[in-house]
Amino acid sequence: MTDTLPRVTYSNIGADFSPLHAFLDREIPAFQAGMSGKTWATPFATGPVAAVASPIDPALDLGRFPVSTEADVKAAIASARKGAAVWNKASLDERLAFAARWRAALDEAKYRLGIAALFEVGKSRIEAIGEADEAVDMLDYYPGELKANAGYRREMIEMVPGETAVSVQRPYGVFAVVAPFNFPVALSVGMLCGALLTGNAVVYKPSPECQLTGLLLAETLRKAGLPEGVFNIVLGGAAVGEALTTDPGIDGVVFTGSHKTGMSIFRHMATRPWMRPVIAEMGGKNPAYVTKHADIERAAAGVARSAYGLQGQKCSACSVVYVDNAVKERFVEAFRAFVAKLQVGDPRDGATFMGPLYNDAAAARFIAAMAEARAGGRVLLGGERIADLPGNYFAPALVEMDGPSRLTREELFMPFLVLRGVDGLEAALAEGNDVSYGLSAGIFSQDQGEISHFLAHAEAGVLYANRASGATTGAWPGGQPFCGWKGTGVGGKGGLGTWYLPQFMHEQSHTIM
Ligand code: ALA
Repeated sequence: MTDTLPRVTYSNIGADFSPLHAFLDREIPAFQAGMSGKTWATPFATGPVAAVASPIDPALDLGRFPVSTEADVKAAIASARKGAAVWNKASLDERLAFAARWRAALDEAKYRLGIAALFEVGKSRIEAIGEADEAVDMLDYYPGELKANAGYRREMIEMVPGETAVSVQRPYGVFAVVAPFNFPVALSVGMLCGALLTGNAVVYKPSPECQLTGLLLAETLRKAGLPEGVFNIVLGGAAVGEALTTDPGIDGVVFTGSHKTGMSIFRHMATRPWMRPVIAEMGGKNPAYVTKHADIERAAAGVARSAYGLQGQKCSACSVVYVDNAVKERFVEAFRAFVAKLQVGDPRDGATFMGPLYNDAAAARFIAAMAEARAGGRVLLGGERIADLPGNYFAPALVEMDGPSRLTREELFMPFLVLRGVDGLEAALAEGNDVSYGLSAGIFSQDQGEISHFLAHAEAGVLYANRASGATTGAWPGGQPFCGWKGTGVGGKGGLGTWYLPQFMHEQSHTIM
């Protein structure tokens, strides 16, 4: 039955999702009834148990979750080291067979995972199911890359007659996989693919906001079947993350989250006797450029969708738009008209585009940014709390600032878009590039010369031109390598692209006479 439901790829926003909504109308209440009151248990989390509420409504119970103690983290790493002794030696065929089993388990659990993300993060239905679809596609894409590249093994030249030389890629050993709250399915699966398909054992820590999704994901891995100890899960917040990533039993860290945490992992690794890989994606401050040659309706839709989708809580979200003064008024008018059609509300409702902010701290940051915008600029749209809803629901904001400021430079991670009126693309690019991040950027222009100029000069890893489904968002496995430049990325080769997997392995050359 679910085989006939439309997939959500973030780019197919015009598709007919009514069969999916009819299915979710039944599944969401059923899922909710099952999760309330449940106490979860998992081997490496023996600390105190705490109840967790949904950001959708503080009265909505997500269940009770234990936390991992320091001893649990140590035990999980010891288990992973045992698993690594076996899995580090797994052949390419064994790893591909595991990938096929995991894909099947993930596909079967996909709607449950998406719905868990809806409840834990407050994602709209489309955002939630989209990331589950993305995760399944990763398990087509990455094994495909591994196979097409023969495990990234290369025959080398014959230096001495009769001698054979080959370059092989070997796993490092045990990876810590530390996931963020905003894409608990897709980003977890992407990082886990990187580590597991290359033969590493794993200790996985989901975000403390997304433990339900993390534990359901762990079930799919159990179902897929891995040698004992290869996959381990720990639960908790920053302290557990630090205990995990600084433990000498860890051979590498793959992390998605804040710049501050990512850089502290990197700094810690540099204190070790030898360097171990840190593959990190650490946020963004993603600009969109709307030139005087833009299709304004398309620009308004693309910018609004990428600024406010998932409440602006994507590292790829557009958070500053540079609009040529010649078209600024028309852009603001089209933008207002588009946003007026976007429903803010309970994500269980199929018509909702934007749900709540994920926690009280995020709400406080939104309120503070609004105060800053009122003091130093102009509020063009939104920003007010929606008082008749129970969680942290806000009308998406558009504010105009007269010059660069904290609001145009820092990652805010909220439905808060800054507009800057500019004269010409060059001035806009100079300002848009003058940030410490470099994840994604978008342009709206019907002029090929402007698009080429943007592609040549934008300092970010993921560039889009004229994307109505999201000016700076919606990267997909095999479509857009998700590679952060500058302060966004340490590792250099993004997920969703060909060169992601080799980062989880070190190269060894074998020369044999
Ligand atoms: N794949 C997500 C995006 O590009 C993170 O927005």
